[in-house]
Amino acid sequence: MCTSSKQKEMSGPRGVKYPLRGAAHVVRGATDIAVEPVFLAPMSGITDLPFRRTVRAQGAGLVVSEMIACEDLVNEKEEVMLRARREAAEEPMAVQLAGREPHWMTEAAKIAEGSGARIIDINMGCPAKKVVGGLSGSALMRDLDHALTLIDATLGAVDVPVTLKMRTGWDKDCRNAPELAARAESAGVSLITVHGRTRNQFYTGRADWAFVRQVKDAVNVPVIVNGDICTTDDAHAALAQSGADGVMVGRGAQGAPWRLAQIKSSLAGHSVPDDPDTEQRLDIILEHYEAMLEHYGEALGVRCARKHLAWYVEDHERCNKISLRSAKSDMCRMGDPADVRAALKSIFSDDAVAVAVQEQVA
Ligand SMILES: Cc1cc2nc3c(=O)[nH]c(=O)nc-3n(C[C@H](O)[C@H](O)[C@H](O)COP(=O)(O)O)c2cc1C
Repeated sequence: MCTSSKQKEMSGPRGVKYPLRGAAHVVRGATDIAVEPVFLAPMSGITDLPFRRTVRAQGAGLVVSEMIACEDLVNEKEEVMLRARREAAEEPMAVQLAGREPHWMTEAAKIAEGSGARIIDINMGCPAKKVVGGLSGSALMRDLDHALTLIDATLGAVDVPVTLKMRTGWDKDCRNAPELAARAESAGVSLITVHGRTRNQFYTGRADWAFVRQVKDAVNVPVIVNGDICTTDDAHAALAQSGADGVMVGRGAQGAPWRLAQIKSSLAGHSVPDDPDTEQRLDIILEHYEAMLEHYGEALGVRCARKHLAWYVEDHERCNKISLRSAKSDMCRMGDPADVRAALKSIFSDDAVAVAVQEQVA
C-alpha cells in the first residue's frame, strides 16, 4: 500500500488575517460562507458532476464547476447545460463563468444565481488560444480596465459572493496579479485564487508560490494558492511560501480523488489518511464510472470516462511500483461497459498486483 507524505509542522506566514488551518470565509454583505481551505480546481472536461461528487465523497473542501461560457449558458447550449449540472450535496460550490462582454456576464450570473449557485467565480486564468482569442480568460489580465468592467457587471447582477481566479500575469514582463487583485477587492470580490504561472507559461515550468505572497499582501480577502500542489508536502510549502489562506488542487486529484481529503487533514494538523487499498480503489472507481454513464449516457460516458480510468491505473501503478500498461490500454479501447467493469475488477485485484510485481522481479 502507498502511504502519504508524513505530517509536517505548518510554517507561520506573515500577515495572515484568516486562520490557515480553519475555514476560509467567502463574505459578501451579510452572507458568510465558510469553506474548507482545500479547493478542487475547475478543469474543463474533467471536473464534471461525477468527478466532483467523487472528490466530495472523499472529503474535499470547496469544489468549482468547469468553466462555463456566459453566452452559451444564456443560449442554453446543450453541451453547456450538461457542464452546468450540479447537485445539492456539493453546495456550497462555485460556478465558474467566462466571458468578455458585460451583458453576457450579467445575464449568465443571474441564471447561475437563479439556479441556486451560492458562489460565482470569474475565470481570468484560462490560457487556451480559443478563449484568449475571444478576449476572455487570461487575456483579461492585459486589460485590467475591461476586466473590472466584467467584475462590476457580475457583482451588479447578483447578491451572492463573487470570486476571481487568475494567473500571475500575462507574461514575465507583466505580472500584474497584485494590481488586479487589489482592484477586484475594491470592486467587491470576496476571494481570489492565483495559479502561480503567467499565461505565456501555459503549464510549463513551476508554479511560483512565492509570487502569490504579493497578491496576499495586496488584499484582505482570502487568497488561495494554486499550481503544482499534488501532495501534503506541496500544500505546506505552497502555504508557507505564499502566505495564502488555502490551496487549490487540480491535476493532483486526477486518479486520486482522495488527495484533497489527505491535504485537508494534514493542514488541520490531523494525521494523514492512507491512500485507499486496492479493494477500496476499485469501489471508488466503479462508483465514479457508473455516475459517468448516468450523467453522459452510455455512449458518451464510456468515452469521457477513459481518461479518468487511465489516471486511476497510473496512480495505482505509481503506488505499487508496477506496470499495467497493456491492461490499461486494452481497457481504454473497450466500448462495452460490462467489459470495462470486468477489466477494472481484474486490474484492481491483489492477484494482478502480485503478478505485476513478479513480472518486475523476473
Ligand atoms: C485540462 C485542464 C482544464 C482546465 N480548465 C480550467 C477551467 O475550466 N477553468 C479554470 O479556471 N482553470 C482551468 N484549468 C486550470 C486549473 O484550474 C489550474 O489552475 C491548473 O491546472 C494548475 O493547477 P494544478 O497544477 O493543481 O493542476 C484547467 C487545467 C487543466 C489541466
